[in-house]
Amino acid sequence: MSLPLHHPHWFSDGKKRVSLPGGADAIEPQIQRLLIEKGFLRAPCPLAFLHRSVPQEACVLDENYLNAVTRAFYVQDASLRSAYYDVLRALRPLVGEDFVFQAVPIVRFHLPARFPGKLRTASGLGMQQHSDTLGGHPFELLHVWLPLTDCNGSAALHISSREDGIAILSHFLANIGGDEALYRRGLDAFFSERDRDAELQKKIVAGCPPCAMKRGDVLLFEPRCVHGGVENSSDCTRVSVDFRLMPCSVYDAFLAQPQAALSPRFRRGEIFHSATIDTL
Ligand SMILES: [Fe+2]
Repeated sequence: MSLPLHHPHWFSDGKKRVSLPGGADAIEPQIQRLLIEKGFLRAPCPLAFLHRSVPQEACVLDENYLNAVTRAFYVQDASLRSAYYDVLRALRPLVGEDFVFQAVPIVRFHLPARFPGKLRTASGLGMQQHSDTLGGHPFELLHVWLPLTDCNGSAALHISSREDGIAILSHFLANIGGDEALYRRGLDAFFSERDRDAELQKKIVAGCPPCAMKRGDVLLFEPRCVHGGVENSSDCTRVSVDFRLMPCSVYDAFLAQPQAALSPRFRRGEIFHSATIDTL
């Protein structure tokens, strides 16, 4: 068994930006409503300035890149879910076939805040670039990342090309002696190696530039694209929704191979919704 680091199948460099204005329009009103219902706001406000209105303690990040607002949005409701399904339906023509999808999308609030713990390098940089495959996610996933605010600089997602991502992940894999089992639970080791190995850190910083995006854009990318936030030193909050999907043909092939046993939660009815987009 070997890691499918060199079997690309998505887009020319592993990622693709498309315009989907209806996506942000469908989701933002639900986010605004839930920010009030969950007690973070008294009235709607421009999301880019959310950090000026929410309590300061809500901005504090833990070393898993979570703050109180992001954690609160793990609990969603039928109206937000319905808006999410509208986005999924709008993506159907782009994917080109029926697909399985993450049942509960993640709503992230990238507020201006200091990066703590393992998100801060010994050299003083706040960064959390990673590949989800380091947390045992399948290589076959397609990530979807939808910003609800314009974002650039330190407020933007930082992301590599497939080629640079493979170089970074191969470098890390070599550092851990090619131990594929360790790779698949290797997120903490990746952060440690990033601190220990200046060459690896340089590759991550140089290979993962900010991806400036407008509200209404959507970024699709494969897991070999190393990605993540950096410490937000801007005066803008970035709010984004991310989720993962797998075309049904890829899902069926994924389940048929032995590696599927290494990602047991990625099944319909578990991380994936029990329905596919065509049967939702
Ligand atoms: Fe990720």
